[in-house]
Amino acid sequence: MKKDWMIAVTGDKGGVGKSTLVALLAEWLLAQGRSVHIIDTDPNQTTQTWVDKCTNFGRTISSKDGAITIVDTAGTSGSSLTKYIRHADLILVPFKPHVADLEVIVGWFLSLKESLQSRVFFVPNMLSNTKEQRTGVSEISAVIKEETRGQLLSGLSERKAVYPPLLNGSKNNFFETKRDRKTREETQKLFTEITRNINL
Ligand SMILES: Nc1ncnc2c1ncn2[C@@H]1O[C@H](COP(=O)(O)OP(=O)(O)OP(=O)(O)O)[C@@H](O)[C@H]1O
Ligand SMILES: [Mg+2]
Repeated sequence: MKKDWMIAVTGDKGGVGKSTLVALLAEWLLAQGRSVHIIDTDPNQTTQTWVDKCTNFGRTISSKDGAITIVDTAGTSGSSLTKYIRHADLILVPFKPHVADLEVIVGWFLSLKESLQSRVFFVPNMLSNTKEQRTGVSEISAVIKEETRGQLLSGLSERKAVYPPLLNGSKNNFFETKRDRKTREETQKLFTEITRNINL
């Protein structure tokens, strides 16, 4: 089995949940006894700030020799083809399935080289089961089918009381504290799909 993995979370769109997904994925892997190395390339340093807050709570999130590197990126044009993304085993792309966001995300995906497109995994985020969102998710499916590259993973619902507080940092791992059933089920489903793809 491959020893080190790199997962980049990107997508050329701001405010779609990239940093939230990085933090959640790190928590998931840590709860499974894996070690992670977080690299935050976003000048806003949202994820690094979360790592530092957890350190202040007495909990180490990231170590330089962590087996799984997770890279957060800035949600602006130009950030998407950094050296990290080119070398990533998985490219996770959270998106909000709304018309305006989809245009950006589809355009970005179509601009990628085929070898990168094959490593892209779209993660619908902030789902609230509206018709517009269902149409948006089908649109991504159609693009993936046409390109014959990329994958669509199950997503995370819009849960303001659950996901945003994560980035405040905590002395406890998100997955080792009591969670409602819906949160447990959707995160379990998503992270099982992700880790299956890197053979963990
Ligand atoms: N599933 C969700 N439910 C509710 N709120 C969410 C969810 N995912 C993310 N958020 C909130 O949406 C906002 C944007 O999320 P986040 O900072 O993770 O996005 P980002 O893509 O990293 O943004 P940026 O491009 O600025 O780096 C945050 O306030 C976050 O708490
Ligand atoms: Mg961010």
